[in-house]
Amino acid sequence: MRKPIIAGNWKMNKTADEALAFVREIRNGLNNITSVESVVCPPFIALPTVSDALKGTRIAVGAQNIHYEDSGAFTGEVAADMLVPYCQYVIIGHSERRAYFCETDESVNKKAKQILSFGMTPIICVGESLEQNEAGETHNFVSQQVKAALSGLTPEQVATCVIAYEPIWAIGTGKSASAADAGLIIGRTVRGTVADEYGEQIAQLVRVQYGGSAKPSNIGDYMGHPDIDGALVGGASLKPAFVEMVQVTARVTA
Ligand code: PGA
Repeated sequence: MRKPIIAGNWKMNKTADEALAFVREIRNGLNNITSVESVVCPPFIALPTVSDALKGTRIAVGAQNIHYEDSGAFTGEVAADMLVPYCQYVIIGHSERRAYFCETDESVNKKAKQILSFGMTPIICVGESLEQNEAGETHNFVSQQVKAALSGLTPEQVATCVIAYEPIWAIGTGKSASAADAGLIIGRTVRGTVADEYGEQIAQLVRVQYGGSAKPSNIGDYMGHPDIDGALVGGASLKPAFVEMVQVTARVTA
């Protein structure tokens, strides 16, 4: 049984003060739900405040990026040991980072190894563009992204990873993939690739989220699909209705 996981990717939103006020508003609602893991991923600067406000709750905290080196001359970057006191998860390979900040399959793989070796869990984002989708390239492209991200990890490490399938054309657009389409890519392509590389048993342990305009009104559809284990939520994670998404998930997966 894979525990459903709903993660909020706040992106570049909320000051530390706003983040604190928001988590105070949502923490009881999230903490009341035991059957779903909820994660909030604020900007770096709010991590200590948010982590402190969530101490003693079952709500996890994640970062939105990391550097793969231990330390050194990397201006503007944040290392694993700096995140460890505050984070259980780190999002890597988000399409925005791939598009605007030169994230590559190779750096995603190095970051995954670094995150795991520091005892945190990567949320590895993969997903195709609209052009790739329309050209029928989704399966091959996403499969190759999954393979590259996990390359060189042990089967035990792979089993703990979270993978987020986020079709780029669905992110922040209000145009979400249907649950059937997302479930098919997640089952056949994402989990199928893990099974090909690491065996069916490991593939059955990996949790795979859907991401892209997930919101309270459609989360139930995704969570009703047996291959979808949660969601990576952008815009809708900035509002109190995020709690409703976790509540719906608990209901649908009960
Ligand atoms: P969205 O973003 O929910 O606003 O579409 C999802 C994401 O980028 O993770």
